[in-house]
Amino acid sequence: MPGTSLRVGLAALTLGACRGPQSALDPAGESASRVASLFWVMLVGAAVVWAAVVALTVWAARSRADEGPRTRSAWLIIGGGAAVPTVVLTALLAVGLSMLPAMVAPAPPGSLRVAVTGEQWWWRVRYPRDDGAVTLANELHLPLGEPVDLTLDSADVIHSFWIPPLGGKLDMLPGRPNRLALRATRAGVFRGVCAEYCGDSHALMAFDVVVEPREALDRWLTHQAEPAATPTDPLAARGAALFVADGCGACHAVRGTVSDGRLGPDLTHVGSRRSLAAGTLRNEPDALTRWIARADALKPDAHMPAFAMLARDDLRALAAYLEALR
Ligand code: CUA
Repeated sequence: MPGTSLRVGLAALTLGACRGPQSALDPAGESASRVASLFWVMLVGAAVVWAAVVALTVWAARSRADEGPRTRSAWLIIGGGAAVPTVVLTALLAVGLSMLPAMVAPAPPGSLRVAVTGEQWWWRVRYPRDDGAVTLANELHLPLGEPVDLTLDSADVIHSFWIPPLGGKLDMLPGRPNRLALRATRAGVFRGVCAEYCGDSHALMAFDVVVEPREALDRWLTHQAEPAATPTDPLAARGAALFVADGCGACHAVRGTVSDGRLGPDLTHVGSRRSLAAGTLRNEPDALTRWIARADALKPDAHMPAFAMLARDDLRALAAYLEALR
């Protein structure tokens, strides 16, 4: 029956959307679990109210106007119109408010600190360390089961930091840092997004979040702190020279080389990242070549200029160099 298969298909689509790396209803963190519980409580509350209103509407449509004593109608209006909504809404409000203190509680002292700055349209990520911060972009690694103390701000307009499976969203304001505490409870790779319209490429501003055991995170962080590898492959070595000659280092830093630009993402280990251009492209040579040549087409209004005037071989060499920065 086409009707049945349509309904099954719609149900599968709807429920399918509840899972996945960017779903608030598939929580992998303490804060997100509270948000998901609140959602289900509100949904059930709303469903009960909706069912009662529909039942009353059907009953009212079927009864005659002059049926029953007037006092019963008066009690129905007072009860259904004032008393029941007051009780139901107060109960839902109480449930919601009771969850609030835990949601806004700061991370305990000694928690891993990470600073994230929203930029048009990417994320500058810094892990402060005793020997200086490790800076990277568009990828966060968080420890499994440990609290993290995130400092969120913006370099330009208002953005909003949101990793749906890990917690609620929080605005990133220029000049006014906000703090967010998160504790991931399930290992995996998740997707964070910007949840506040911030310009033409707002929808092209995502980041990858890797939740892993602390030892793996420490290994990753130690590697991210190291200077860039010197390319050994001839094509990548030519790319390294082109990177300097074409002026890429004016905006991008590659630690351990002469390139120390601060405007754009730090590219010291760009080859190790899961995606390119803030979650817009897969991290592979062809995509990187396209990105360098036509950043303007792939991310409208981005500050990254298009380098379509470079020879095809030069673009490939640049991509080979950057992919080798693992
Ligand atoms: Cu940044 Cu929307």
